[in-house]
Amino acid sequence: MFNEFTQSSESNHSILKKHYRFTGEDEALLLDMKPRMDDFVEEFIEGFYEFIWMFGNTAEFLKDKDVIERHQNKISLWYKSLFSGKYDISYFTKLYRIGEIHVRLGLPTHYVNAAFNYVRVFTLGRVYKLYTGQPDLTERLEAVEKVLDINLDVLTSSYREEEMSRFLSLSKVEKLLLRLLKKISGYFNYLLSGALVLVAFFSIGLFSYDVYLLFSRQAPIEQGILTILGSLLILWAAIELIQEEMNHLRGGKFALEAFIALAIAALIRKILIFSLSPAKTMDVLLYGVLVLCLGMSYRLIVNKAESDKKTGSANRGLLEL
Ligand code: HEM
Repeated sequence: MFNEFTQSSESNHSILKKHYRFTGEDEALLLDMKPRMDDFVEEFIEGFYEFIWMFGNTAEFLKDKDVIERHQNKISLWYKSLFSGKYDISYFTKLYRIGEIHVRLGLPTHYVNAAFNYVRVFTLGRVYKLYTGQPDLTERLEAVEKVLDINLDVLTSSYREEEMSRFLSLSKVEKLLLRLLKKISGYFNYLLSGALVLVAFFSIGLFSYDVYLLFSRQAPIEQGILTILGSLLILWAAIELIQEEMNHLRGGKFALEAFIALAIAALIRKILIFSLSPAKTMDVLLYGVLVLCLGMSYRLIVNKAESDKKTGSANRGLLEL
């Protein structure tokens, strides 16, 4: 929507100001606070980065020292411009471009919204500290609130446009398909969750059956104990899988390693059982090779996740320098 504002006349950005009741008095108050608020810029940047680094995947976007330095400079300028007192078409165009750049980078809109929480708490806190006891404290706080809300509105408008244009560019049939697929994938997720719970119950059943075999002496003690250990391993892997599915439903990544862990657990159970029978040496060897291959795949996936995490902490280290 803001694109319309930037592309057409200046009166359009005035509409945006009007919706937020952002008046000339607000502009004057912000300009009046500028010299004192500018003094906090370094403290602001330090806190801002500490805050956004807690998101976890920040390093995926702020990849190296150069990008971080560039971003810090730009954020400083942006912070200072909040109190510039001049909120004309070029101010709004710049804000819109920032939003567009974030969209192009694939930065989740949630990150921008969350970062604004820091900006709001920081700026309002400083204004409150500086102007407590003055009769126009409320007006000053309101002016900051308004300029921040307007900023957030414009910065995230590109996200809304992007989503809208992607949706609008689809044909009727594609839209219908998209809705249908969304619904179906939701149902499949329920089905998968139900199936995983069922697997966990079966694992409990298997465990109980193995215990029964041991105590009813239908299985030799050594084999009975190993079998119980194997079924416990499967139960543990099934519970892991349910937890990963919960994370997936909360929006997390698909945890392939949990499925591999379950397959490894099932194979180890077989190896434990077959290892007691000399006739099954070939099977044990075959299962051993399979476990080795799965173990290597597991290691590769976990290594990749760890190295992603390390990149994050290395970049955090760069920030602290
Ligand atoms: C209050 C929230 C934020 C503001 C005001 C903001 C502001 C800016 C500005 C002014 C630019 C430069 C645009 C230009 O080159 O014209 C920019 C770029 C960028 N922003 Fe943000 N940003 C915010 C949040 C974030 C967050 C949370 C991340 C990452 C997690 C992020 C990652 C980036 C990256 C990677 C670039 C491109 C840097 C480059 O290569 O030059 N931003 N942002």
